[in-house]
Amino acid sequence: MKIIHTIKELREWRNSVQDVAFVPTMGNLHNGHLSLVAHAKQAAKHVVVSVFVNRIQFGEGEDFDQYPRTLEQDAEKLAKLDVDVLFAPDERELYPNGVQNYFVEPPALQNELCGAFRPNHFRGVTTVVSKLFHLVEPNVACFGKKDYQQLTIIRGMVADLNMNIRIIGVPIERDADGLALSSRNQYLSTDEHAAAVFLYQQLQHIAQQLRSGSRDFTVLEQAATQTLTQHNWRVDYVSIRDAGSLNTAQTQDTKLVILAAAHLGKTRLIDNIEVDLSAA
Ligand code: PAJ
Repeated sequence: MKIIHTIKELREWRNSVQDVAFVPTMGNLHNGHLSLVAHAKQAAKHVVVSVFVNRIQFGEGEDFDQYPRTLEQDAEKLAKLDVDVLFAPDERELYPNGVQNYFVEPPALQNELCGAFRPNHFRGVTTVVSKLFHLVEPNVACFGKKDYQQLTIIRGMVADLNMNIRIIGVPIERDADGLALSSRNQYLSTDEHAAAVFLYQQLQHIAQQLRSGSRDFTVLEQAATQTLTQHNWRVDYVSIRDAGSLNTAQTQDTKLVILAAAHLGKTRLIDNIEVDLSAA
């Protein structure tokens, strides 16, 4: 595996190959990221993984400074999977002026769900992902369903800006108890870690009620919010949406996704479950 830090070297490598799958990450790789790599390997001949903690998608008071940076361990994991290139640019390589002046501005969805609590987050994501797409020029790129809103916005960007890149959405990897893997799980204390799966259990409970025929979306959302709050969670949102558009769910919709974000102690966790009612 080549470890590349500069745009110049990446472009030289890229000009020598065809058929590339790309997995963008912020590093501190866990089995969720590695599952994206496995899908990427199936999708193309060559695989590039990027590790870059992207300052412009973090808000003030968020965890940019504390975000775990573990490049050496990440490189070991990727080398074992036979990844072709680990692209790990430093900040000056991607933001040579120290600032970004031109942004890829997503539509109104960027201000909903997580966007309502993280102003400018999604435009930071679309901007860096566009930059990385221009550098890596992938045929295919893999994103996790863990960040469902991110995946939806990236799909929209690629379609709207006529980018010739196939986007693969990869299912969520979970711990044995059901907790969705996340680099932020390591901020949890031992007790919090054990309690964290409760968020997923609330989503499962809603999914069950939808499958049993309930369409009282607001009542389901409010009940889960209340239960989480009673268990010491600070809830940002619990929301039932159309799985494709992320519009607010309508009674006739059959492909739904239940999304939630909530704080346990100092840690903000997100999770979601897709529910396909057409199969029922
Ligand atoms: P990061 O949080 O490192 O996630 C990188 C990719 O891994 C994302 O596509 C995310 O959805 C996926 N992922 C994380 N946990 C997962 C899990 N448990 N199961 C499956 N996939 C999982 O998302 C970002 O970085 C950044 O916003 C980025 C796209 C790299 C832009 O900076």
